[in-house]
Amino acid sequence: MAEKKQSTEPAEGFSPDWLRLREPADHQARSALLTEKLVLWRERFSDFGVVDLGSGTASNFRYLCPKLGMNQTWTLLDNDIGLLSCIAERLAEWAVETNSQFDRISPNSATIKHANFSAHLTWQSCDLAKELNTIDVENTHLMTGSALLDLTSAAWMSRLAHIINAQQCASLFVLSYNGKLHWQPELQFDKQITELLNAHQLTDKGFGNALGPSAYEYLMSELTSHAIESDPTDWILDQDSHAIQEVLISDWAAAAAEQNPLRSNDIKEWSQQRTHYLEKEQSTLRVGHVDTLSLPADNL
Ligand SMILES: C[S@@+](CC[C@H](N)C(=O)[O-])C[C@H]1O[C@@H](n2cnc3c(N)ncnc32)[C@H](O)[C@@H]1O
Repeated sequence: MAEKKQSTEPAEGFSPDWLRLREPADHQARSALLTEKLVLWRERFSDFGVVDLGSGTASNFRYLCPKLGMNQTWTLLDNDIGLLSCIAERLAEWAVETNSQFDRISPNSATIKHANFSAHLTWQSCDLAKELNTIDVENTHLMTGSALLDLTSAAWMSRLAHIINAQQCASLFVLSYNGKLHWQPELQFDKQITELLNAHQLTDKGFGNALGPSAYEYLMSELTSHAIESDPTDWILDQDSHAIQEVLISDWAAAAAEQNPLRSNDIKEWSQQRTHYLEKEQSTLRVGHVDTLSLPADNL
C-alpha cells in the first residue's frame, strides 16, 4: 500500500467502527431506483450469484440481500482480514434485527434464511489490486462494490470492466464520491479544503493513482456492452450525524495538511471553526456520491 487509504475516509483506514458508523448513512443514501431495476432484472434467475468487491464487514450484503429475494450466493472479498473477521458477528446481530436465521457453516461461510430471502455467503481474503483476474466469476450474475471505486485507478477499472463485459453480468457500484462537498454554515476556507481533499483523492490507494471523484464515470465509459444508469446518492449529514461529521472534519483536515503542509495553520483554523459549528448543533454537510448500475445489453 503506497499511501494511507484516507481521503473521504478516516486516516487509520477502514476500521470496523468507522464502517459501522457510516452504514446507516450509506443505506439511507443508496438509490432505491437503481436497486429496484436490479431487483426486476434479477427475477429471471432462480439462483443469483453476487461477488462483492471490498466488502468490509458486509454492509452491501445487508442492504441488498432482503431486496434480492430467495436463493442468493454471495462471495465477499477484501484484503483486510480484520474486517473479514467481523463479518460473522455483524451478520448474527443483523439476523436478530431482521428476524432471520443465521447459521455459521465454517470459519468463512454462513447462511441466512428468512421467509422472504435466503443466502449462502463465503468471505475470503483477496488483494483486489493484485488478484482481480483470479476471482472465480463463473455463476456470477452481479459484481458489486460499495464505497470502493474512488480508491481505484483507470488501469484497474479497465480490467474490472473487461471481466464484467466478458461475463455479461450486471454491475452495481454504489456510493462513489463525486468530489462535491457542501457545508452549512459555509466558511471561506471550505473551497480550499475540498480542492486539497480532491487532489489527495488522486493519490495511490493501492491500485495505482486513484481516479477519485471521476472514477465512476471512467468505469461507466468502459462498460461498453451494458446499458448504464447512474443516480446521485449524497450523504446528507445533519446534527443527528454528529459522530460522522466529527470524524470527517478531523480526517479531512489531516488529508488537506498532508496535501499542502504550508497551509497547516489555515487548515487547523478551519477544523476548529467547523468543530465549533458542530458542537453548537448548527452544522450540516452534504457529501456528493453516485450509484451506478449496468445491465448487460444482450440480456435486458
Ligand atoms: C470504504 S471501505 C467500504 C467497505 C464496505 N464495502 C462498506 O460499504 O462498508 C473500502 C473497502 O475496500 C477494501 N479495500 C481497499 N483496498 C483493497 C484491496 N486492494 N483489495 C481488497 N479490498 C480492498 C477495504 O479493506 C475496505 O473494506
